[in-house]
Amino acid sequence: MITLDSILAQAAARVDTFARTAADIPYERKGVLYSEMLFLQAALGDALPPRLVESGRARGQSTHLLAACLPGTQILSVEHDPDSPDVPVAAARLAPFSNVKLLFGDSMVMVPELVQPGDAVLIDGPKGYRALRLAFDVLARCRPRAVFIHDCGLGSEERTFLDRHLPGTLYSDARAYIERYAFLDEPCRAVHPDSARLDHEAGRSYGPTVACLPFDPQRDYASLRRRTRVTALSDRISNGIRRRLGSPG
Ligand SMILES: C[S@@+](CC[C@H](N)C(=O)[O-])C[C@H]1O[C@@H](n2cnc3c(N)ncnc32)[C@H](O)[C@@H]1O
Repeated sequence: MITLDSILAQAAARVDTFARTAADIPYERKGVLYSEMLFLQAALGDALPPRLVESGRARGQSTHLLAACLPGTQILSVEHDPDSPDVPVAAARLAPFSNVKLLFGDSMVMVPELVQPGDAVLIDGPKGYRALRLAFDVLARCRPRAVFIHDCGLGSEERTFLDRHLPGTLYSDARAYIERYAFLDEPCRAVHPDSARLDHEAGRSYGPTVACLPFDPQRDYASLRRRTRVTALSDRISNGIRRRLGSPG
């Protein structure tokens, strides 16, 4: 079972090796933080999954860290936009890794077809309710070990929904975790001072934040998936009304 305590224990055991590996991997914009990747690795623990399916590669920061930190795991990375200038950047940095497969297509369709029982999944695009729909689809149909969703900071659609409907979710912005591992993100702060904030401002997360959704066979993920549609629709309606009431005239 994945808990914050198990993540803290695993992270403590892995941080030195992780820091040595990460030291050779420069930070890329749009990328996950180093502390977030240690969090993912610590959540997976000793029995590493045979495969990790990634949705949303961009310039390949997460893919590069996954490939280097999980050499025994096959990384299947799906990116939607084959014409993005990010494509050659990711291809060049990932070329040395034989455990990475770079795929193109829509994750909403491809990822549930790729994931097998026991795999891990990292979603970093699409975002918002689509990310949640993809996560619940995979959890309902594929029985992965865990699904990780990036950009689940306080105030995000993802976090608001998960806090309300999936209380067992774990987050990389947990104070006990950040107090120990924020130091890993100095290179990110050097590029973007706002990317990982240590000021603990109320209502604001430390950084973009990874959520960990461990697979629970008792959960009705199909019904959570339906609920994301209803919540997305009701958010759209109430935002529309608010805009209309707030608009002049
Ligand atoms: C924030 S970036 C990913 C950053 C990357 N994980 C890293 O750490 O460097 C989001 C990416 O998700 C991709 N994306 C968005 N929706 C997608 C979808 N439905 N299927 C596949 N990729 C998608 C975007 O094209 C974009 O490149």
